[in-house]
Amino acid sequence: MSAVAFHIGPVPVHGRAILAPMDGFSDLPFRLICRELGSAMSYTEFVNVDELAATRKRDAKCWRKLVFDLSERPMTFQIYGHDVDRMIAVAAKLQDQDPAPDIVDINMGCYVRNIAERGAGSGMLRFPDRIARLFAGLSSQLHLPVTGKMRLGWDPSSRVHVEVARILEDNGARLIAVHGRTKSQGYGGQADWDAIAEVRQAVKVPVIGNGDVKTVADIARLRAHTGCDAVMIGRAAIGNPWIFAGKDREQVTFDEKVALMRRHLQLNLDFYGQRFGLVLFRKHAARYIHGLPDVERLRVPLLTARTVAAFDEAVGAWAFAAQA
Ligand SMILES: Cc1cc2nc3c(=O)[nH]c(=O)nc-3n(C[C@H](O)[C@H](O)[C@H](O)COP(=O)(O)O)c2cc1C
Repeated sequence: MSAVAFHIGPVPVHGRAILAPMDGFSDLPFRLICRELGSAMSYTEFVNVDELAATRKRDAKCWRKLVFDLSERPMTFQIYGHDVDRMIAVAAKLQDQDPAPDIVDINMGCYVRNIAERGAGSGMLRFPDRIARLFAGLSSQLHLPVTGKMRLGWDPSSRVHVEVARILEDNGARLIAVHGRTKSQGYGGQADWDAIAEVRQAVKVPVIGNGDVKTVADIARLRAHTGCDAVMIGRAAIGNPWIFAGKDREQVTFDEKVALMRRHLQLNLDFYGQRFGLVLFRKHAARYIHGLPDVERLRVPLLTARTVAAFDEAVGAWAFAAQA
């Protein structure tokens, strides 16, 4: 294992490139793949505390999102909500799960309207007092480290990243992840890496920089630009988890792609069952094969393969035709 890069409270992290939490993508199968290739820690997709509070059924979708493999440690459960007391109560229960996570993270970045407008996700950035109360409560009631992932603010005229970063640190957050956009930007425009540097300078706890890392070289560029302790990669890891192994998309061989897709499909079938495992694999497969020659011929048979054997057949027929 590589040397310790930084600590989140007492939890050591052995690397500086980390798969970002992504709803619908950073599930157990994809996280395992990214971890094997070098992502240094795991975040679940964000999970709604209201749903967690409403059911204890472990096969409910919200609870399934919290299933992880012990090889993933350090493991972070990311939650969101708008009711501070409920968030604290749910987080306190999560730390007593078996197996327990290593870290609990609060989502302060989601820009989806019905979440943000209700004061959850990036909507929290409009209420710094609420953030202070939440983190004060979490850090007094949890023995696990608590962290936050935020955007820069609600819109360009109300950027609060430095203020909120200080509030987080003052109220016990042990790490801050910053996506360099405001809520109103969605994923448009460019992430503001200068703002990430401002957060890095404003606090002592570790800072993860995030936004627009597209290549292996970008990882080093973002770190050099901001001084951040680690870099979080979201969209660029979909279809190219090898970014964590230091390889850009065009450096990955066809055989490596096929071997990884087979494994990803099998992990999906194991975790979600035949039907959903396949359906949920399709969006990844479409991204893995992006840019391959004569990809149209491969797309339909690949995206409809019901088993790994059928997947192999589709790839074999395509490779045969490509060589002919
Ligand atoms: C499909 C999708 C789902 C996302 N879901 C989450 C989430 O559940 N929690 C979260 O904190 N951020 C979420 N994000 C934001 C990412 O973690 C990240 O901040 C953003 O994509 C910017 O990083 P990138 O430029 O590397 O993609 C999501 C992003 C995408 C594209």
